[in-house]
Amino acid sequence: MSTAPRHPRARDETWNEAWNEVVRHARAAADARIAALMRDEPDRRARLSVDAAGLHLDLECHRLPGAALDALLALAGVADIAGRRDAMYAGEPVNFTEGRPALHVALRAPAPRRGGDGSTDDARTSDDARLRQIADEVEHTLARMERFCEAVRNGSWRGASGHAITDVVHVGIGGSHLGPQLACEALAACAHPRLRCRFLSNVDPQAFERAVDGLDPASTLVVVASKSWHTLETARNAQALRRWFADAGIGPGELARHMVGITANVDAALAFGLAEASIFPFRDWVGGRYSLWSAIGLPVMLAVGPERFRALLAGAHAMDRHFAEAPLARNAPVLLALVSLWNTLALPGSTEVVVPYSDALRSLTAWLQQLQMESNGKRVGRDGVPVPWNTAPVVWGGAGTDVQHSVFQALHQGTSVHPVDFVVVVPARDDPEGRGSALLANALAQREALLHGREASPPAGDAGEPPDANLAWLAAHRACPGNRPSSLILLDRLDPQRLGALLALYEHKTATLGWLWDVDSFDQWGVELGKSLASEIEPLLDPARALPDGLAPGLRALVERIRAARAAPR
Ligand code: F6P
Repeated sequence: MSTAPRHPRARDETWNEAWNEVVRHARAAADARIAALMRDEPDRRARLSVDAAGLHLDLECHRLPGAALDALLALAGVADIAGRRDAMYAGEPVNFTEGRPALHVALRAPAPRRGGDGSTDDARTSDDARLRQIADEVEHTLARMERFCEAVRNGSWRGASGHAITDVVHVGIGGSHLGPQLACEALAACAHPRLRCRFLSNVDPQAFERAVDGLDPASTLVVVASKSWHTLETARNAQALRRWFADAGIGPGELARHMVGITANVDAALAFGLAEASIFPFRDWVGGRYSLWSAIGLPVMLAVGPERFRALLAGAHAMDRHFAEAPLARNAPVLLALVSLWNTLALPGSTEVVVPYSDALRSLTAWLQQLQMESNGKRVGRDGVPVPWNTAPVVWGGAGTDVQHSVFQALHQGTSVHPVDFVVVVPARDDPEGRGSALLANALAQREALLHGREASPPAGDAGEPPDANLAWLAAHRACPGNRPSSLILLDRLDPQRLGALLALYEHKTATLGWLWDVDSFDQWGVELGKSLASEIEPLLDPARALPDGLAPGLRALVERIRAARAAPR
């Protein structure tokens, strides 16, 4: 198995020099004032704003001088971002620690064109032929998903006792949860009126109770989504749901009417008891956090219908084309990544705050947390040696305007500086109370406040009198320093295309950052350790088992205490 993509260059002296040049600019820009840069650099707006796939990206409000942007673009050239991107699109094993491609772009490419004899055109090389085969496979699964979703939506798919499906419970965690939930919420305005979708991810029984509360098993469809089919949380919840059906008289023979599986491990799903016809497969070259575009998107298609799901894919594809074709200096994901990299250097210790001004996008932050932190929370480069820079800043945030009343105080006046991504959706029309305009005005106002701040200027006393000391003291408390960076991503409206483009924008930003940091954005070894320890620790909680002699004293004490708490009367 090949473990390294062919084209991209290794980190060498030229790369180090380009990196050091960026660092030099970051040190020199320590006192840069964004307002002054906006005033003094005539081409700033043209360079730092870009329209791509229906989105408008405005990166003007960063402490990034034009000369530093030049240095960042030079680094992107030296790091061979274009070559790495092309290698990813060509299906090379860019996930080099697992020797796998990361081919999510193939999931949203248009269906292959066919000649009259059934042959596909343009398959000149064996790589082309392989990509064609992948495209055919993707299209085949999409067509199966469409037939299934149409049947559920039009009511011809019936539960075991003849009831139409009214509720969908999607079971999955991480990438098998966050993308589908985000998309279902974002597109809820065009969801099927009969189908309600709930999500179950946590292995906590309370989460299960909430997910099934009030549901009638006879009209419920469970979608079990797990790439590996081994993830503990999903496996246990799927078992609990199988029992929930059995308790309602829906046994193994009828399960196919109520439970479908989405996985890259079809054998395990069959062993669980699902029928082959109830399994929607995808391949291991789809990374978990990039899997919304695969069969994992089934609940989205159930909710909004095949046509809108195709539009979601088309929007992501439009961003894929932009990423592939736009020069680096006009490339939205590349610019977003370069600005992010810049902030890690110019604002050491900073984090990334993401604030969607659209309630429909309230889960964007959670989705981005996994995308960016699971992808790039790595410390070792391709050469197996720790990289000499910080990677993956913490991502946090929440829906505007709610977070204005919680975390924004610290953003305006706190001692550390954290760049904010304002993701702003223009509401279709205003309501009588003007809430849409209020939402927009708040987004723009917060951005202006972060940028310009408010000076500590106590009102002057009467002529000849010293200023009132008390007022001066209060003014110091009221002052906002400003000069706090932010990006703005504007969506003229929230529709499936623009949603697809937005998510693909962030995916490509994340991959670009991984390439700049020289880490593998597509593996997640760090998560595995906790998983395997949990399976070792779980048997220790069984009071019938003697604790092993070699158990670490701290862990032993905790386990004993937990055993006692469980045994105590409640
Ligand atoms: O958190 C680790 C992880 O492997 C993620 O990458 C993935 O999205 C999630 O677990 C769920 O995995 P699976 O789809 O295999 O259940």
